[in-house]
Amino acid sequence: MNSTIETILNHRSIRLFKEEKLTTKQIQLLVQSAQQASTSSNVMAYTIIGISDKNVKEELKEISGHKHVINNGHLFIFCGDLHRVQLVASDEVRSKMMEMVESTEQFIVANIDAALAAQNLSIAAESMGLGICFLGSLRNNIERFSEILKLPEHVIPLFGIAVGYPDHKPEIKPRLPIDAVYHENQYPTDDKLISMVAKYDEEIKAYYQTRSTNRKVETWTEQMIQKYSNSTRLDVADFTKKQKLNNQ
Ligand SMILES: Cc1cc2nc3c(=O)[nH]c(=O)nc-3n(C[C@H](O)[C@H](O)[C@H](O)COP(=O)(O)O)c2cc1C
Repeated sequence: MNSTIETILNHRSIRLFKEEKLTTKQIQLLVQSAQQASTSSNVMAYTIIGISDKNVKEELKEISGHKHVINNGHLFIFCGDLHRVQLVASDEVRSKMMEMVESTEQFIVANIDAALAAQNLSIAAESMGLGICFLGSLRNNIERFSEILKLPEHVIPLFGIAVGYPDHKPEIKPRLPIDAVYHENQYPTDDKLISMVAKYDEEIKAYYQTRSTNRKVETWTEQMIQKYSNSTRLDVADFTKKQKLNNQ
């Protein structure tokens, strides 16, 4: 196994960080790593905003509720961005670009681009001995999330990544069996998926019961039923329209 794969397979989210801040050099290296991710047609349809201001962190923590929004070595916010691409154009040309800029397809492109950059940044950070935690909870109030960052139209705030020196070492969380996620040539039968999930339920239940902190008795099936039976963040749909994204 090479060291890149070792880093990837060693991933676990870190939610407790030492006080030490990242240096400017570390931040730049991480952003450079993010930027080198593949990107659809070289559009680079994302923007990364680093949060160094304590007050801004406090405001973001209000939305997320998670302490690691404040307590980290650095906080990166990832946005899908179809604003920058328009700045190259005259007013006349820009109006011709709008149909594409505001399309669902380009909204997907922006989300994929941002996610790829974010995962590159995460792996780079972990390879440097840092820990990371994604923060989708910042979308608990997407309107406020956007307002705090002063985002223009055609930009959407997606998630944060808290990065820093780990101050705990949680056990690695097991994933679904390979046969539940990788299939050849066509989508699998429901029977196959159901049996794979049952297998995983046993494994994750044992993990939750024996891990060193926050023990609980729960299966993945129970978690997913709970999650998808309770609608949350439905306002995101209207917000994307307000930002003039995902419109057609
Ligand atoms: C897009 C995204 C959003 C997430 N949001 C949060 C969050 O708001 N707070 C948090 O503590 N963890 C968050 N996570 C971390 C997941 O809970 C975690 O990755 C998952 O449970 C698997 O655990 P692991 O990363 O330790 O392997 C998020 C992960 C992703 C990919």
